[in-house]
Amino acid sequence: MPFRIIRNDITKVSADAIVNAANSSLLGGGGVDGAIHHAAGPELLEECRTLGGCRTGEAKLTKGYALDCKYIIHTVGPAWQGGDRNEEELLRSCYRNSLELARSEGCESIAFPLISSGIYGYPKDKALDAAVSEFRSFLEKYDMDITLVIFDKASFEVSSGIVGEIRQYISDAYAKKCAENDVRNRKNCKSSGMNHAAASPLKPKSSSLFGKKKESQAEYASPLMLKEDICCETSADLEDMLKTHDESFSEALLRLIDEKGMTDVETYKKANIDRKLFSKIRSDRNYKPKKQTAVAFAVALELDLGETEDLLKKAGFALSDSLKFDLIIRYFIERSNYNIYEINEALFAFDQSLIGS
Ligand code: AR6
Repeated sequence: MPFRIIRNDITKVSADAIVNAANSSLLGGGGVDGAIHHAAGPELLEECRTLGGCRTGEAKLTKGYALDCKYIIHTVGPAWQGGDRNEEELLRSCYRNSLELARSEGCESIAFPLISSGIYGYPKDKALDAAVSEFRSFLEKYDMDITLVIFDKASFEVSSGIVGEIRQYISDAYAKKCAENDVRNRKNCKSSGMNHAAASPLKPKSSSLFGKKKESQAEYASPLMLKEDICCETSADLEDMLKTHDESFSEALLRLIDEKGMTDVETYKKANIDRKLFSKIRSDRNYKPKKQTAVAFAVALELDLGETEDLLKKAGFALSDSLKFDLIIRYFIERSNYNIYEINEALFAFDQSLIGS
């Protein structure tokens, strides 16, 4: 998955490069900096002493030592001073410079903490926006696996009240479902209580199931005529139907990409799908994707709910109205919000699997 968010201690993560939220001395400190120095071992400090510090917004590289990475990239985020001291640009340049450094060293994967959002006091939602927006711009141009590592749930805040709205949407859907179940249960109770015999599967209402059908058989055309009628009246629809009936997920996906006038690269990037996985799907007609992958393509192709359901069906999935994951996806699609980064932030906030692959 090109971009993912996980909850973990970054010193336990494996990646080509791990980013440290350092201070300008590069000689260690508290927070994630302290944890990285502690886990990497004393040789890290020795190498850091040779670097001559680092300015805010810039990044420097050391070896990984005892961490499960080739490199540690040390970057210095801005301390929050109210927002009008160029903090945002400095924070963004931390991400840009770290990503550039990783790329120039040939790294294929990188893990970041949420820089400046701890001791440096940068508002967490704004820190997340800056990080994700830089990841997005970078991934539009280059391939890399970027992991944002969130230490504890309290460090993760999504902006603009969207979490509250989604919570309301989910609770409304649950309430509706309960009400429907209630009505259904009451109906079932009534029918089984009042006329048990009629409801028995051993005694079908023969008149409606068999007798009536027989009586009205004359109204039906012969199978051959029926087929011809359909052919004459709705041949275009039928052709479309037959064309898509036996279509596999992979074939449907490629057709939709063409219909939308998108390129393969645009599609897999927008879907947060790894290039190699996309080639696999492209070349294997019978590829069976995970639900998160299928949904990601629906989002990338900006399908509406009906079209999304059709595409998911090809992979053997559906969107239910009682699963949190499905409801969050519905929420975004109903609002034509196809920003996969925002969707994944919301899914993470609700402890759901992210989309893409
Ligand atoms: N793994 C992942 N994230 C972590 C970890 C960890 N082990 N520990 C903390 N975080 P901070 P800053 C999160 O304070 O705000 C140091 O003293 C934490 O929850 O580490 O950039 C430096 O030397 C928060 O979301 O870094 C500087 O003086 C995020 O990492 C100063 O702190 C960043 O919090 C830098 O402050």
